[in-house]
Amino acid sequence: MRTQVAIIGAGPSGLLLGQLLHKAGIDNVILERQSGDYVLSRIRAGILEQVTVDLMHEAGVGERIGAEGIPHHSIELVFSGERHPIDVHGLTGGKVVTAYGQTELTRDLMDARAASGLTTIYEAADVQPLDFDGERPRLEFRKDGRTQVLECDFIAGCDGFHGVSRASVKDRVTEYEKVYPFGWLGVLSDTPPVSPHAIVYGNSERGFSLCSMRSMTRSRYYVQVPLTDRVEDWSDERFWDELRLRLDKDLASRIVTGPSIEKSIAPLRSFVAEPLRFGRLFLAGDAGHIVPPTGAKGLNLAATDVKYLSSAFIEYYAERSSAGIDGYSARCLKRIWKAERFSWWLTTLMHRFPDTEGFGQKVQEAELEYLVSSKAASGSLAENYVGLPL
Ligand code: APR
Ligand code: PHB
Repeated sequence: MRTQVAIIGAGPSGLLLGQLLHKAGIDNVILERQSGDYVLSRIRAGILEQVTVDLMHEAGVGERIGAEGIPHHSIELVFSGERHPIDVHGLTGGKVVTAYGQTELTRDLMDARAASGLTTIYEAADVQPLDFDGERPRLEFRKDGRTQVLECDFIAGCDGFHGVSRASVKDRVTEYEKVYPFGWLGVLSDTPPVSPHAIVYGNSERGFSLCSMRSMTRSRYYVQVPLTDRVEDWSDERFWDELRLRLDKDLASRIVTGPSIEKSIAPLRSFVAEPLRFGRLFLAGDAGHIVPPTGAKGLNLAATDVKYLSSAFIEYYAERSSAGIDGYSARCLKRIWKAERFSWWLTTLMHRFPDTEGFGQKVQEAELEYLVSSKAASGSLAENYVGLPL
């Protein structure tokens, strides 16, 4: 089997890359370790920057986002028992983000890929990127008990944090990492969101909380928990009680509770691998970097990597120029580090850290006060929240 670009991973990065390349007439094949159903069962954040929405349109798959995505003009910060709106739209000269679940975005991309007749090999085991330092890279993998080979011009490693792409260049990567001393307990429920037009970020003595949504009938809520907690420790009732205790009185009284349809605890991590290119192997999305979920930058960063990578390949095939390919890593890393900074900052500002002493706590409170009372400070939050320019 042969293709122009072999893509490892059918998450948002791999699927979006495949669609953008296809639009430009570049053949690609995706190898995915899991089944399609499994990929669609993963629950992740759902706030899209305009850059990501635009890319979905460019890939020809923006229709449902346009129809069902819910624009958010503001966010709300809750601290000291009070709510403070931040007018993101006004502070950024008219920009918004769009609430649209990552699962739905993945579904749109999968459907479009199937309709385009592009090859996706699900349940491909033991994928191995080989010979990517030379001119003729290839992937070896096992499918239905047989070893198979996919020859290509380039390999795109879109296989997430635990994928084989970064692992296969382990000795050549510098890793930067920060692990946070807490996790997020998340609950998805088929109840109307308490705040359908603005994500609520709460900082309370009991820890961080977040009120988000997937649609007008599906909510997503989170509370900060110690990493030692297990999901079994948290009945639905305990979760709703705890969430209410971390919000202001008005929001707490308006939360509509219901049975959880998904409940899980996720650790928080900041991580960057440098560089992102190794000969003809490229890392994109979670394969190259992780942000803590605060601020919802993960998917948006993945989308911009993919934009840069697709332009680099398009330039290569159209003009035989390797300028985009050569500049890929540095171009991505510039934007990645800014989003890393923002996600780390918002995480630090909004959570209670077990080792923070009195002084640190007071400084955090002062920063929150400053943020909501200074136009410069809230403007900085807003411009990062909607996404820095490409
Ligand atoms: N071989 C084939 N496929 C693999 C392998 C492997 N060895 N390892 C992992 N994969 C697949 C995973 O099963 C998954 O479907 O690669 C895909 C990677 O998808 P994601 O983890 O969703 O990563 P990415 O596409 O970069 O999406 C980034 O997802 O985690 C969020 O916050 C993140 O929203 C961001 C987005
Ligand atoms: C989510 O909807 O899951 C979400 C929203 C905003 C965030 C993080 C997660 O900052």
